[in-house]
Amino acid sequence: MPKISSSSSSWRICHYLMIFFLVEILSLASEWVEASGLNASPQSKILFPLREEPITSRDSFPYLSKTRLQSSYPAFISQLLLPATHSDLNKVGATASSASSASSGSSTAFSPSFQLTYTGSDPSSSASGKPPRPLVALVTGASRGIGKKVAETLARAGVSEIICVSKSQAACEATSNELKALPCKSSAYSCDVSDGDAVEALMKRIALEHANIDILINNAGITKDVLFMRMSRKDWEDVIKTNLNSAFYFSSAVMRGMMKRKFGRIINMSSVVGVGGNHGQANYAASKAGLIGFTKSLAREVGKLGITVNAVAPGFIISDMTDKMTEEAKAATLNTIPAGRLGLQEEVASLVAYLASDQAAYINGKVIPVDGGMLFGGS
Ligand SMILES: NC(=O)c1ccc[n+]([C@@H]2O[C@H](COP(=O)([O-])OP(=O)(O)OC[C@H]3O[C@@H](n4cnc5c(N)ncnc54)[C@H](OP(=O)(O)O)[C@@H]3O)[C@@H](O)[C@H]2O)c1
Repeated sequence: MPKISSSSSSWRICHYLMIFFLVEILSLASEWVEASGLNASPQSKILFPLREEPITSRDSFPYLSKTRLQSSYPAFISQLLLPATHSDLNKVGATASSASSASSGSSTAFSPSFQLTYTGSDPSSSASGKPPRPLVALVTGASRGIGKKVAETLARAGVSEIICVSKSQAACEATSNELKALPCKSSAYSCDVSDGDAVEALMKRIALEHANIDILINNAGITKDVLFMRMSRKDWEDVIKTNLNSAFYFSSAVMRGMMKRKFGRIINMSSVVGVGGNHGQANYAASKAGLIGFTKSLAREVGKLGITVNAVAPGFIISDMTDKMTEEAKAATLNTIPAGRLGLQEEVASLVAYLASDQAAYINGKVIPVDGGMLFGGS
């Protein structure tokens, strides 16, 4: 056996002790840095101030609790535009007071570092210095769901007047009354948007009763899902007329005024299904794909006139439309969504509000998904 000399063994012990102390010092230092918050960049603190627990669990769908959503939803979006969760979607009036405190800047939790403006001018042009003028928005399908949330978001974000259109007069008036309580000037009109003559008559009436429309949100839509071999001509025509033809009717009616004023925002509510297609939705997919082609072509024609035309392509958003899906279809859909949950109406509405703002003047002819990262149909 080799003999270990006492000097080399004491040197080895010394060596181990030094390493031990070094590791201890380093771990104490890293704990101190973490506790003092020096390692977090200021940006990460601003962007996710209240994110406590990301939604990752798929088993929580479709019965996500309100508290879970509240603690998980990025707070800066709520405070910027809508302090509401899905449970509050139909209670605009109930959230009005919290929204007014957010808009008046009295919220202490977070102050956004930017503010959207709605003055009808391109921030890059010399005209951007002109005083703000009241902007008027028309939202189709404003009686419920995404359209109602869009109307509310635009009102909270600073659009002066919102004209609500839907088939049902009572529900549309209810939305309009809730907007007035925000407060925001608002009115409600009942119209079947799939009927070209009815839309023409409505727009003549609106032209007499209101200022020009600066922001048009073509949102009204329906589904009539059935496998193609069982799809009737009526199933096809109802969906195409409601979802696609209506966008043509409303856009034609507002275009001349927008061209004259050299300002306009048209936002068409497409769908991921319009990009990737879907089983049992040939009619719906065709209507939503049609909206994409319409958006891109119109954007090219009017882009030089200060008018932008964009499409938003929601994935699966909690609403009456997705409530109709079977539990099996919902479960299958959930597997295709990297976010592991359905989307919230405000997540669509906040993008629409941005696209309608002065700040989005250079975004034109685009189809922007709000889909939790779905790769729908390989798109
Ligand atoms: N929810 C989703 O997951 C999802 C995903 C992608 C795209 N989208 C699109 O987003 C839009 C809104 O969807 P949503 O989920 O909010 O739907 P929703 O809750 O079913 O609401 C549909 C809205 O459209 C209106 N509407 C339907 N047909 C009409 C007609 N002929 N004339 C006038 N108004 C009519 C309804 O008015 P009434 O109340 O008077 O019937 C209602 O306001 C639709 O274009 C939809 O295709 C939704």
